[in-house]
This record gives sequence, structure tokens and C-alpha cells, in this order.
Amino acid sequence: MSFFCQSGTEAVEGALKLARYVSGRSRFIGFLGGFHGRTMGSLAFTSSKYTQQQGFFPTMPGVTHVPYPNPYRPLFAGADQGKAVLDYIENVLFGANVPAAEVAGILVEPIQGEGGYIVPPDGFLAGLRRLCDRHGILLIFDEVQCGVGRSGRMFAAQHWGVAPDIMTLAKGLGSGMPIGAVVARKSIMRQWKRGAHGNTYGGNPLCCAAALATLELVEKSTRRTRPRSAHTSWRGWAN
Ligand SMILES: Cc1ncc(COP(=O)(O)O)c(C=O)c1O
Repeated sequence: MSFFCQSGTEAVEGALKLARYVSGRSRFIGFLGGFHGRTMGSLAFTSSKYTQQQGFFPTMPGVTHVPYPNPYRPLFAGADQGKAVLDYIENVLFGANVPAAEVAGILVEPIQGEGGYIVPPDGFLAGLRRLCDRHGILLIFDEVQCGVGRSGRMFAAQHWGVAPDIMTLAKGLGSGMPIGAVVARKSIMRQWKRGAHGNTYGGNPLCCAAALATLELVEKSTRRTRPRSAHTSWRGWAN
């Protein structure tokens, strides 16, 4: 199910609110080098450069940043930076600093954009999926920049066959028209009570027409791209 809005940052704000609402938890984990927008919730995660942060503190509390697995500039020992980051979250962060049971969601770009166009190692997103499932944490993919055909698939995470609980879209979705979307499994999105979240211009016919035309075009041209792995967890995603 989708909630329509006007921009990427508004989609991220919606995803964060949804995750808090549904989980009853308040903390989040984000990634160094990530870009998620410039409003107070999304800005709390944005860490690709100083300019967006300086002069605006405090933003939304409760966000802990961890390194994004970067095979070109490794921060951890060992060949598999993805596994190292997952171990860091599980053993260091959850072991000593952030109670996993208080974490509502992990917000991540499946391919990190502003932070350097970093393709994560194979296995990283699947590992994040397992970590979230283990602790009842919602996995939020920010596909605002990497989604809607820009990686060769409709959604970048489809290269690894890993499905999120909540996903954010904007940018390419409207081919220049201002539209964003929070997309989530029905079982999650349905939990919002009427009026818990909303806006004025979301879902306006003009932007929706542009998005529909865009999706049709991208769907046709991405159909032939083969996934990098055989995971099929996107099946039945809508439920
Ligand atoms: C991954 C990602 N998320 C969110 C945003 C914010 O989108 P907007 O500028 O439409 O608010 C951006 C913008 O660059 C982005 O790259």
C-alpha cells in the first residue's frame, strides 16, 4: 500500500512515523554517508556531508549511525565489510549501547547515493533482513535515489532479492513532477488509524498521471534485467 506525498524527505518522514507507530518503539539505526533529506526527522539520518547538519542541531533524537559497508574504503578488518557491519550492529551496538528491543527501524539506501555511489557487498542486505527479523525491527529501504529503474531494476534491492517492510520513493517516480511515496506491506500500512498521518496535495491527479506513465515505461525497460541472486522474498510482498 502506498501513501503519496511530494518529496523524498516527506516520504522518509512518513516511513519513520509509520515505523514508530506500528512498532511502539522509538530508536532508529542509520548509516554514515547516508542521505535521506533535510527535514528534522530525515536530517537526523543524513550524514553525507556537514553542510546539511551545521546550524540545525538538535534534529530528531534516537538515531544511531553505523558505517555503510564500503568495499573500496574498508573501515573494518576482513574481506567482507557487509558481514563486519552486521557483526558490529549485533555485537557492539546491541551488545553494549542500543537495546535492540527499543529499535523501531533500520533505514538504509540499498545502493548508497550521495555518500559515494556505493554498491554494498552481496549478502549485506539479506543479512540486514535477517537481523531485523531476529529483533522485530522494521527494515526501511530508501529507494528515493536508487529506485525506479536507476540501477537497471525497478528497485535497487531487487538485485539481491531482499524485500523491505517499508520503502520510500520520489525523484525518478514522477519524471520531474513532485511526487513521493511511502510503500509498505498492507499489514503494516493498515495499522495507521485514519488521520494519524496525512497531507494536502499527496496523490494529486497530475503527479499520479506522471508517475503512472513513468512506471509503465520503466517496467517495460527493466523486465529483462536479471537479479544478482536467486532470493525470491519479494513474492507476496504486498501482503
Ligand atoms: C536517498 C535519498 N533520500 C531522500 C532524499 C530527499 O529527497 P528530496 O530532495 O526530494 O526531499 C534524497 C535526495 O537527494 C535522497 O538521495
